[in-house]
Amino acid sequence: MKTVLVTGGAGFIGSNFIHLMLKKHPDYKIINVDALTYAGNLENLKSVENNPNYTFIKADIRDAGTIGAIFDKYPIDTVVNFAAESHVDRSITDPQIFLTTNILGTQVLLDAAKAHWKLAPDDKYSRDYKDGVRFHQVSTDEVYGALGKTGMFVETMPLSPNSPYSSSKASADLIVRAYHETFGLPVSTTRCSNNYGPYQFPEKLIPLMINNCLTDKALPVYGDGMQIRDWLHVEDHCEAIDTVIHKGKVGEVYNVGGNNEKANIEIVRLIISTIGKSEDLIKYVKDRPGHDRRYAIDNTKITTQLGWKPKYTFEQGMKETIAWYLDNRKWVDNIVSGSYQKYYAEMYK
Ligand code: NAD
Ligand code: TYD
Repeated sequence: MKTVLVTGGAGFIGSNFIHLMLKKHPDYKIINVDALTYAGNLENLKSVENNPNYTFIKADIRDAGTIGAIFDKYPIDTVVNFAAESHVDRSITDPQIFLTTNILGTQVLLDAAKAHWKLAPDDKYSRDYKDGVRFHQVSTDEVYGALGKTGMFVETMPLSPNSPYSSSKASADLIVRAYHETFGLPVSTTRCSNNYGPYQFPEKLIPLMINNCLTDKALPVYGDGMQIRDWLHVEDHCEAIDTVIHKGKVGEVYNVGGNNEKANIEIVRLIISTIGKSEDLIKYVKDRPGHDRRYAIDNTKITTQLGWKPKYTFEQGMKETIAWYLDNRKWVDNIVSGSYQKYYAEMYK
């Protein structure tokens, strides 16, 4: 029996994680804390909203008072921190919120966990915590920076982030590490490559291209389209996090990736051909400033030490994902029209 605080659970990966946890661990309680920013969409969780093991609380992770009260009220023993500003392009136009949410929000959560889990909370030298507690930070491979044509990211590499988004995530990783080193807080971190799958906000490459293809809009490819990302199905990422919170060693970082390097233009072409549209829709546009050329994850540590491995091949995962967006046009339409926010804004005023 566990009580898991999932932050950012109304977003893409967090909502997939909640679905997985409720199915896989029917004796766990899940508390979803989400501020419902533009990226938070409770429609992702409609099918579980009446599940007695699921509770939603609209709250901002930067709000220490509210986060403390949630820890007072529920017997939380695990935190999985997904809450973040997550889009690189937005971090280029408006960096500040990336720093406050991704860095300070993480520190607020760490403080609340420390205060509630420490056996002698007022003793600054004590490193004893309640049994079985764990703070898990969901990070990204982007903290390592960019690769050239060869090489892969390994956990021991120095962090070298290039965008305001990735530098804010790297900062959060370091604060998580500091709470472990200084205070002995039981933490773990996963750094995953690019995810795809159901419920991804249609500003990210794959859902954007699928939606534009379906509506015959131009497909904006940045620069030469030869940037490489290492794609993983979201369910495989969620399984990896579940593995690490149960079996991962405290204080460790685990890379998560499925050895699926693809150039952006290959992905765009695959979507066009699967949907049956013309490549004339492709529009090469000005490159993203500071655009990382290549990401590639070495997943040896998690596969050999914890026995995790991806279940999806890229071909099967993309086939199912494109089919999901075709079957769920209304989900995307509600985002494009903005109605997803109006409905829940009324409910959680
Ligand atoms: P997302 O943008 O879809 O969801 C983020 C969620 O966090 C939203 O529901 C939003 O409402 C919530 N949120 C934002 N600010 C908040 C705040 N101040 N307080 C409470 N909630 C807040 O993001 P995602 O793609 O699901 O990513 C989730 C996590 O995984 C992020 O930490 C991201 O850095 C990491 N990650 C993402 C990918 C990817 O490919 N998408 C890959 C590796 C790691
Ligand atoms: P994105 O989904 O934003 O993820 P990230 O920047 O975190 O990797 O973008 C994936 C890749 O696709 C990245 O190299 C930028 C590129 N891209 C485009 O070419 N056009 C687009 O419209 C978008 C959103 C992304």
